[in-house]
Amino acid sequence: MKATMDKLVNLCKGRGIIYPGSEIYGGMGNTWDYGPVGVEIKNNIKRAWWKRFVQESENSYGIDAAILMNSRVWEASGHTTSFSDPKMDCKNCKTRHRADTLIEMHSKGKVNPDTMTNEEMEAYIREHHVTCPKCGKSDFTPIRTFNLMFETTRGVTEEGQNVVYLRPETAQGEFVNFLNVQRTTRAKVPFGIGQIGKAFRNEITPGNFIFRTIEFEQMEHQWFCKKGTDGEYYEYFKKAAWDFLVDLDFDPSHLRYKDHDKLAHYAKAACDIQYLFPIGWSELNGIHNRTDYDLSRHSQFSGKNMEYTDPVTGEKYVPYVIEYSIGADRLMLAALTEAYDEETLEGGDTRVVMRFSPAIAAYKAAVLPLQKNLSEGARAIYRKLSKEFMCTYDEAGSIGKRYRRQDEIGTPFCVTVDFDTEKDGTVTVRDRDTMEQIRISADKLVPYIAEKIRF
Ligand code: GAP
Repeated sequence: MKATMDKLVNLCKGRGIIYPGSEIYGGMGNTWDYGPVGVEIKNNIKRAWWKRFVQESENSYGIDAAILMNSRVWEASGHTTSFSDPKMDCKNCKTRHRADTLIEMHSKGKVNPDTMTNEEMEAYIREHHVTCPKCGKSDFTPIRTFNLMFETTRGVTEEGQNVVYLRPETAQGEFVNFLNVQRTTRAKVPFGIGQIGKAFRNEITPGNFIFRTIEFEQMEHQWFCKKGTDGEYYEYFKKAAWDFLVDLDFDPSHLRYKDHDKLAHYAKAACDIQYLFPIGWSELNGIHNRTDYDLSRHSQFSGKNMEYTDPVTGEKYVPYVIEYSIGADRLMLAALTEAYDEETLEGGDTRVVMRFSPAIAAYKAAVLPLQKNLSEGARAIYRKLSKEFMCTYDEAGSIGKRYRRQDEIGTPFCVTVDFDTEKDGTVTVRDRDTMEQIRISADKLVPYIAEKIRF
């Protein structure tokens, strides 16, 4: 692994992948803006996920639920009462920390704070003289819990104002639409609902670039099944989540399963797939067996019967849910880490090359005229390719420098237009990874590239 967080942040900023949020105002902690290259990669990641888990999954349906939901949703889900982090302030420098993160950092991941109560965490920090990462002192306030949901109000007059929350996960949109989707699609259990959308959490822990942000996108899929089949589907989604990453060219040795040591009160089983990020092994996605908790709670709080009636046996039951949840931004960071390579070339130069799976690369091809006076023909090829896939065009600087620029954003193919193109209609196609070049007819470019970027 050659990527460090600093190298990724610098490359992303310099190459239009990701910029610090609100930068001209000095930024805003834990927010990032995707640039022209980054938005393409992220959209491709989301498309690949949707294709795999909605389009190609015969019994799965997509939705796009509202971010703002009736506040009762968050009472039913338990978020208003228990979606909080254990925070403590350093009495010396006044920095706020998550107690569990302090313990994890101090013990270098050997102690798992998930299994500890607040009192146990306080005792550990005291007895092990855990220090503040900012000032080095070991003098903290007792733990206080802070709800992670962003709150706002709706209504124009003070009296009529109601508290609403920016959703902290997309999953609840899928649960509250269970009946709608089942009725309108006539889906039979087992079936799935998938969704991609923004979620918001008032995180105070160091973000580590886009690993942990206060606004992020989730790709979540809930599989509704009958109790008794849940174990088998849990295993199925563990494997499907892993296969998705491997098919995006992730090296399996950079991935591992990690069962949760402490299960949420409603969960029967839960596991993460961790990735070897520059910050070490950390959660990339989660797979949870949520039992019938979510639908039962919504039934209880809304008064609506969330039971499913088996059309053959007439049996009524509240389905179990297997949830697969992955952050689009976190997957983007993993994809950036995985793709980053520094290669020493003959002659001693180093090239930085982002070896993205072609399916998620921002531009599938860059069209480069060898000289500016070839631009007319080159632009015509660019326009033709752009009708099929996202492409870029560059005629500034030496051809070598232009290849390097494309390598740094991971463009899999560079199409060079030269004087022979005018004579016989052929172009050179340079492969990003091998740097080998082949000569093909410009008319064959579309099928040639389409074949290689298929996911
Ligand atoms: N519905 C279940 C749920 O939300 P989670 O483990 O809290 O579970 C699921 O989040 C995934 O969302 C994580 O595995 C991670 O990929 C992503 N995620 C969570 N919090 C995030 C944050 N603050 N910034 C970026 N991604 C985040």
